[in-house]
Amino acid sequence: MRRDLVGWRVIITGASRGIGRELAIQAAASGARVLATGRDESALASLSADAAAAGDECLYLSGDITSPEFRERLVGHAEHAMGGLDGLVNNAGIGTWNHVGAGDEATFRSIMETNFFAPVELVRSALPLLRLGNRPAILNVASRCGRCALPSWTEYSASKAALVGISESMRAEFARFDIDVLLALPGKTSTEFFANCARLEGKADLRFDEGMPAARVARALVGMLRSGKRESWIGGDSYWMLLTRRFFPGIVRRLLARKVRQLYANT
Ligand SMILES: NC(=O)c1ccc[n+]([C@@H]2O[C@H](COP(=O)([O-])OP(=O)(O)OC[C@H]3O[C@@H](n4cnc5c(N)ncnc54)[C@H](OP(=O)(O)O)[C@@H]3O)[C@@H](O)[C@H]2O)c1
Repeated sequence: MRRDLVGWRVIITGASRGIGRELAIQAAASGARVLATGRDESALASLSADAAAAGDECLYLSGDITSPEFRERLVGHAEHAMGGLDGLVNNAGIGTWNHVGAGDEATFRSIMETNFFAPVELVRSALPLLRLGNRPAILNVASRCGRCALPSWTEYSASKAALVGISESMRAEFARFDIDVLLALPGKTSTEFFANCARLEGKADLRFDEGMPAARVARALVGMLRSGKRESWIGGDSYWMLLTRRFFPGIVRRLLARKVRQLYANT
């Protein structure tokens, strides 16, 4: 479903920096009423001030999205401060870059909490408000790893694949409420994502500084919200990898295995 973002009330998670911050700025500039969230309160205050300086409004509430109490407070705040909710962008996320054999259960569970359980539970909490919303939509920011799992991004890929799976199920379920469920699969983006990974033990030279700018991903996300495009592969790396995998899965499998053999040849 197409939508005009003027006056559209939306929660954006993970808005204290990176892709979420850019999205909050661009959505507010498009006329949306944004409630931004993340744990870093001073970063959110600075986001809100930057939006105000541009003549736009961006509300914020800081907290940990993995906390059930905070999620309830966030949805309550949307109702209280904006009078309801039309959109939810589940963007907050964290990575871990380690070989599966060297991983640990606590890290894996924390990745699943942030990338999978928190967005799903936030949808559950926000659903009553979204059902009353204007052209409502849920936009889940997964990753190309959610459709094509990558070596050493094992637990991260699993968390994003779970988000992809449940997004497709929700899309079918929420059709009866006329709530769009949109899925973004970005490729490598130049943010602090890599530096913030729970573990950094993989071997490839990833050059995240050469990834696409966060503002470009945010533009694509705003475009999805406007157009109601169900799934978007954002960035050349995501597009070509997912396209190749769709038609020639064996080639992608062999290339990845060859790369891993080279990287781990002397270990
Ligand atoms: N960068 C990439 O190459 C790339 C590629 C594909 C997909 N993605 C996905 O895009 C999304 C945004 O990533 P990014 O690159 O912008 O990363 P980033 O710069 O590290 O930003 C991550 C955001 O998530 C928030 N966050 C993390 N854990 C949280 C928690 N427990 N509670 C509340 N907020 C939390 C952080 O805020 P606080 O620290 O203030 O809490 C921050 O605002 C993620 O879902 C990521 O998986 C990124």
